[in-house]
Amino acid sequence: MVDYINRMLQQQEQFTIALSGGSTPKKLYQLLAAENFKNKIDWQKLHVFWGDERYVPFNDERNNAKMAFDILLNHVPVPLTQIHKIRTDIEPEISAKQYEKILYQYFSPDSRLKTRGSSLTTFDLVLLGLGDNAHTLSLFPGYEAIHEKKSWVLSVFLKEENSTRITLTAPVVNRAACIVFLVSGADKAEAVSHVLLNDYVPDLYPAQIIKPLNGELHWFMDEASAARIKK
Ligand code: 6PG
Repeated sequence: MVDYINRMLQQQEQFTIALSGGSTPKKLYQLLAAENFKNKIDWQKLHVFWGDERYVPFNDERNNAKMAFDILLNHVPVPLTQIHKIRTDIEPEISAKQYEKILYQYFSPDSRLKTRGSSLTTFDLVLLGLGDNAHTLSLFPGYEAIHEKKSWVLSVFLKEENSTRITLTAPVVNRAACIVFLVSGADKAEAVSHVLLNDYVPDLYPAQIIKPLNGELHWFMDEASAARIKK
C-alpha cells in the first residue's frame, strides 16, 4: 500500500482512498500508524473517504469512521478538511446525497452524466472487507442496492440488523484505479469460496458485484480464510 501510494503521488498531487470498516482492517490501520510506515507516506496529500458507515453516532463504537480515527487518523497528519466522514448526524438519505455530492466534486465535477463513460476513474484505492454472508460495503444478500446502476451512495435499511447503513455502490467503486479485499479468519472461508469460485449470483454473494472496469482487483487473505480455495 505504501509503495502504491508513493508511486501514484509521483504522478499526481493527491491520493484518494476509501477505507473499510468492520474489525479486519484494524491491524492494517495500526501498522500504517506505527513508526515503521507512518513516516513513509505523505499524509498531507491523502484524501480519505469511507466505503460504508453504520448509521450510529460518531462516538459509537460501531461507527467505522470512529474506528479509523482512533487507530489511524488521530495519529497521522492528514488535514481534517481532506477527511470525509459519512455523516450520521443528519437523516440517512440526506447524508447519502451529501456524500454523493462530495464524490462528484472530486471525481466528476462537470456532470454526473460523465460517469456513464467507462473511462472515468474514481478512487485511487478502495479497501473492502467481506462478511461471512459474502457481503461487502453494506451490500447485503438480496437487497436492491447490489444492482444499483446510477447512484453512487445509498442509504439502506437492513432488516437483519434492524438498522440503517449508508454505502457506496458498484458504479463508483468499480471505477476505482485499485480495489483491495482484505479478509481474515476461518469464519470467512466459505464466503471467500462462494465469491471467487461459485457462479455469478451477486444476489446471494454481493461481493461478486465488485469488478473494476479499468482498475486492478486484489485479494489479500490469510491461510484460514483462503483454506477452501487452495489447490
Ligand atoms: C462494515 C464493512 C463490512 C465489513 C465486513 C467484514 O462496516 O461492516 O463495511 O463490509 O467489511 O462486514 O467485517 P469484519 O472485518 O468485522 O468481519
